[in-house]
Amino acid sequence: MNKYTMMEAGEGMKKRLYLLMLFIASIAILLGCTGDAAEKKEEKQVIKMATSADFKPFEFFDEEGNIVGFDIDLAKLIAEELGYELEIEDMNFDGLIGALQANRVDMVLAGMSATEERAQNVDFSVEYHRSGEMFLTTKDEAIGSLEDLQGKIVGVQLGTIQEEGADTLSEEYGFEVKKIDSANVLIQELITGRIDVAYLDKEVATGFMEEHDLTGFDDPTTASPGMAIAFPKGSELKEKVDQVLQQFIEDGTLDELKEKWELTE
Ligand code: ARG
Repeated sequence: MNKYTMMEAGEGMKKRLYLLMLFIASIAILLGCTGDAAEKKEEKQVIKMATSADFKPFEFFDEEGNIVGFDIDLAKLIAEELGYELEIEDMNFDGLIGALQANRVDMVLAGMSATEERAQNVDFSVEYHRSGEMFLTTKDEAIGSLEDLQGKIVGVQLGTIQEEGADTLSEEYGFEVKKIDSANVLIQELITGRIDVAYLDKEVATGFMEEHDLTGFDDPTTASPGMAIAFPKGSELKEKVDQVLQQFIEDGTLDELKEKWELTE
């Protein structure tokens, strides 16, 4: 090897080293980019859910102030299955449909009956539960039938199907209807004698009945539609949620939840 070729070899090596470094640098940049993208994907999307947490066992505040219940468990399982994070907001039942219409929330689970009237303003999932209606009274009231409601004050929760039902029945049976924001307040009003009767969802009424030693009778007139998850009209989430819900119905997950929260119907 003469001097000349030695030098050439040296130059060639430098060039190769340079190319290698360039190669490593570009790989590093590429990796950096994909790393970023992966991180962005991992940031979970959020489902904003609203409820009215005055409706045990569907949704209520536990002693620590957490919102818990059948609907909450169901929503959590659905969000988990879809890979979303779940955020829960409590509001008056009466405000839920409006919150959906204004797109302030993505979905509502609140023991909400999927009525045709509501379906004009929101979209509903498949139904996940069915319950009837009940009239609740204190044990010192001798009320056991619709006829006994004559001249009484019957309380209902504002915005519920029971409000509408009571308005209709009141004409035929001659009672006064008092409308109250929260189901918890409704029961307080009953216990303290400011109303004679509370008219509400049977499943929830049964719980209040045991808790406060009340009595009552089933509403013989109604056949209310089942409960479903509500979404803003045209929501893309609805289809995804429906798929998961259908899966939960088929694989027994829903039944397990009903057992856990002792839903009877
Ligand atoms: N099922 C009834 C309705 O849809 C009552 C629901 C009340 N729900 C509640 N979380 N307070 O009108």
